[in-house]
Amino acid sequence: MFIKKFAQALVATALLLPAFAQANEGASLPPAGNDIRNEASLQRGARNFMNYCSGCHSAKYVRYNRVAADLHIGAAELKKNLMFTSEKPADTIVSALAAADAKKWFGTMPPDLSLIARSRGTPYLSAFLHSFYRDPSRPTGVNNTMLPGTAMPHVLSVLQGVQNAVFKTEDGKPEFEKFELIDKGSLTPEQYDEFVRDTVNFLEYMGEPIQAQREDLGIWVMLFLLVFAGFAYLLYKEYWRVVH
Ligand code: HEC
Repeated sequence: MFIKKFAQALVATALLLPAFAQANEGASLPPAGNDIRNEASLQRGARNFMNYCSGCHSAKYVRYNRVAADLHIGAAELKKNLMFTSEKPADTIVSALAAADAKKWFGTMPPDLSLIARSRGTPYLSAFLHSFYRDPSRPTGVNNTMLPGTAMPHVLSVLQGVQNAVFKTEDGKPEFEKFELIDKGSLTPEQYDEFVRDTVNFLEYMGEPIQAQREDLGIWVMLFLLVFAGFAYLLYKEYWRVVH
């Protein structure tokens, strides 16, 4: 009886876990498709982040040497390819942008991206980086369907190219329909997808550098609890054998 109830509870928990995990993420957005266990992708993502994002965005809870150790990046390579805004590997990732300049240029300070994957979810980040479109009415020349009126310029337009957004009118309100690439970038759409996947992968890694280890350990903890439950049951039987 006890074993059956216990097994039922275990199955119910196992079934519920993915639901909890998904609850945080954008409900209707497609998954980002990244994989935090893919080290090559994380290394490319780190390179993308340092080259294309850290000029404006900090990641002040993440240290260079932690990234290097986790992603197996050598000291020389770290200095040469990843450390642009700082000198010491033990420094956290700061941006070169001064707050006063940011206010003047963008009207706002670009947010720190250490925890952005946790606050926004990876599907949103992937969608955000895919959704810049040409809008001459904006000071940056672009707008974004995920964050209308955003102050962020399309810093990846050399790679992605320039796209127009097509809107259809529904009940008098414009509703987004699709993007049309009007000017090719240096990457094909598939290569750009991969660029974004790698970048989002790195953002997710920064949000919780220990995630992969935690999940690995979790499996052993579950196994231990299962085995322990077996012994506990035998002990229970043993005690009650005497009582009866
Ligand atoms: C030229 C400066 C600049 C660069 C480079 C830049 N950003 Fe931004 N970013 C901004 C600004 C400014 C904002 C604030 C936008 C707003 O609040 O409208 C922002 C906001 C964001 C946000 C928050 C969106 C939200 O929903 O609040 C994300 C995510 C983001 N950037 C990701 C990136 C990534 C990834 C890169 C590198 C590929 C990058 N940014 C490069 C200026 C920049």
